[in-house]
Amino acid sequence: MTHDAKGLRPETLAVAFGYDPGQALGSVKPPVYLTSTFVYPSAQHAKDVHEAYFDGTGPLVGETHHIYSRLGHPGLDVLEARLAAIDGAEAGAAFASGMAAHSAAALTFVKPGESVLHGRPIYGGVDGLYNRAMAGFGVHTETYDDGCDPAVVRAAADAAMARGPLTLIVAESPANPTAALVDLDLMVALADEVGARQGRRPLVLVDNTLLGPFAQRPIEHGVDLCLTSLTKYCAGHSDLLAGGITGRLELIHQLRHLRTTWGSHLDPFTAWLVARSLESVAVRMERAMSNARLVAEFLRDHPKVAGVTYLGFLPEGSPARAVYDRQCRAAGSTFSFHLHGGEAEAFRMLDAIRLMKLAVSLGGSETLICHSATTTHYAVAPEQRLAGGITEGTMRLSVGLEHPQDLIDDLARALEAV
Ligand SMILES: Cc1ncc(COP(=O)(O)O)c(C=O)c1O
Repeated sequence: MTHDAKGLRPETLAVAFGYDPGQALGSVKPPVYLTSTFVYPSAQHAKDVHEAYFDGTGPLVGETHHIYSRLGHPGLDVLEARLAAIDGAEAGAAFASGMAAHSAAALTFVKPGESVLHGRPIYGGVDGLYNRAMAGFGVHTETYDDGCDPAVVRAAADAAMARGPLTLIVAESPANPTAALVDLDLMVALADEVGARQGRRPLVLVDNTLLGPFAQRPIEHGVDLCLTSLTKYCAGHSDLLAGGITGRLELIHQLRHLRTTWGSHLDPFTAWLVARSLESVAVRMERAMSNARLVAEFLRDHPKVAGVTYLGFLPEGSPARAVYDRQCRAAGSTFSFHLHGGEAEAFRMLDAIRLMKLAVSLGGSETLICHSATTTHYAVAPEQRLAGGITEGTMRLSVGLEHPQDLIDDLARALEAV
């Protein structure tokens, strides 16, 4: 028997939900269905399956039938049910990457002449999606610098509405790479206000990649869509690319249909790998986060480090701390530190690293380090980078599962080279 999501905690759902061994000869784990297409028992059945998929009508509505793997396959059913259950959402859709998920949301929910609001900093790929690709389709983008300040956010929303109806609010929180927070309750309230003013409520999409489904639960704050680059903590081993979005079934349906058209579904084997890795993400994150605190404390006290933007250090009484206390259950393991000096000092340090890997990405079992301005945020305009707190001395760390002392020793040695 599969478990009912009701009454079970996310850690349990991550292990047990969405798969019934009775479907597959009692196999404890779901099989990988390596097939591109599915056989129908009759021509009428084939028609009914298509009617249910495309029109949502007919005798097979609500039943699971597959047509062709680009439209959906058994591995996606397991993964999407599990993602939705963990996030506390009605439904989920999985994509070939986090950016495929972001692109699907942008293309489904935003039309030419409309506006999008997002924070700064934001992952460079998402910045490119809205400020270059969607701009080319006539979509306007406005940004806010402090996602915890109602006045700043409302002013940005006004500016967006002046350019065209505001239809999507994107909140990456914590933001890549500085771990800056966006107040999710504020975004939901803003969407309601904008909806009352313009007669159409914008959707709120939260990118939850940096904390993942256990340390922050956006759906519980009333956001419409929760997006996660599953490539990162959820898959957790830096060996695949995947993305997921959870939310109301009616919105997820629209995303799945666009995914079918654009061909950005997640393939059966990768879906299986992600579902497997979801089982252990809670414990992996606990270890990564306790390591990250020790590493952040070491860096904070180091004379060559100008500052550490780590959520665990937010000052008591600050607006960001109030948001953190309300919305985050833990501080994550990805954060930035800022060296005294600029690119030259950063490069000297990176070239002296021995244990950590000099690589982009985050959330893997190994610790990764990179210089944000010349890698993940290379394509972001320099003034936008600076406005988002990314200087020439900003380094991003994704702390992994190694012994923390080995990580600290590696950093200590590398900082001597600065
Ligand atoms: C916050 C955030 N969102 C989305 C993405 C894109 O995910 P993917 O690399 O799986 O396409 C990234 C990638 O680094 C990210 O950091």
